[in-house]
Amino acid sequence: MPKSNVQRIALLTSGGDAPGMNAAIRAVVLTAFHYHIEVIGFQHGYNGLIHHECQQLDLKSVNGIIHKGGTILKSARCPDMLAKQGLNLAAQTLVNENITALVVIGGDGSFKGLSQLKQYWAGQTIGIPGTIDNDLDGTDFTIGFSTAINTAIEAIDKIRDTADAFERIFIVELMGRHSGHITFNVGIATAAEQVLSFENFYEKDEQLKLQQLAVEINTAQQNRHSSYIIVIAENLWQGGATKLATQLQELANIDCTPCILGHIQRGGSPVAKDRILATKMGVAAVQSVIEGKSGIMIGETNNAICHVALEQSTKHKKLVSQSLIDAQQNILALTAQTQC
Ligand code: F6P
Repeated sequence: MPKSNVQRIALLTSGGDAPGMNAAIRAVVLTAFHYHIEVIGFQHGYNGLIHHECQQLDLKSVNGIIHKGGTILKSARCPDMLAKQGLNLAAQTLVNENITALVVIGGDGSFKGLSQLKQYWAGQTIGIPGTIDNDLDGTDFTIGFSTAINTAIEAIDKIRDTADAFERIFIVELMGRHSGHITFNVGIATAAEQVLSFENFYEKDEQLKLQQLAVEINTAQQNRHSSYIIVIAENLWQGGATKLATQLQELANIDCTPCILGHIQRGGSPVAKDRILATKMGVAAVQSVIEGKSGIMIGETNNAICHVALEQSTKHKKLVSQSLIDAQQNILALTAQTQC
């Protein structure tokens, strides 16, 4: 087996968990083993670094986890990593544990913490993009996104059945924090009659949009008595899906059922695409450590692994593909209004 100069790396999962995180943990541990590198797993995100909660990860600890959602290392958000004291404590733990490189599987908040750590600790820092939101710049997909959209699609297909049976209108709220990758992709894949997301809607237009929605729903319902599904991104509409349903009732006597899919989108067994992406990224992360790289996120673009500066990955939110937005707005949405 090849030997590298690196002896110990630290690994943690941070922020919102995402299906496929376990597959990435497994790939990091197996690859490290291959190169005779020890892996120390820290629990509960950066809190594990601050409070020195860790365990060595061996082959046995990653056996039988590739298909499991969640993360065996547990996850958490860690506001302490935004303050000097927390960063100092985290750095001290890494020094005490004789760690060469820290690998963090997480999203933009986690990577901001990792970037900050550079000022307090001289070791290598590597990020693996794990978030259902798919909003990190520099990678076509983040680990967990594909599973999350499949979960949401499955749920909305079921909602469609009951909506059809009752010729009913549903407003389904989807996760994504402040980006619309989940909402747009799920909207397209479920043939939602309306997709409301950050990319096609601005808050100041709320009253106008409300009136427009009322007209469009009424027209569609007159033309073809059937179900009508609106998907809406969380944090888009003041008061979310529930408030929007109330407003449509008050404005135009339209009866809508709000449905917040919520954390169901974060759970479940990862789909093949996430397992494979996570595995490729986990292998690449350890190889990057051996090559002496630091301050980078492992990405994949056009089916090839790439390295992106951590700061770059979080500087701008990755945009939803314009062709998807155009198809929804200019073709599918208009057709939905005129179908008989
Ligand atoms: O970042 C992942 C995510 O699931 C977002 O889509 C969502 O806005 C947020 O985390 C929810 O966070 P929490 O579980 O802390 O409420």
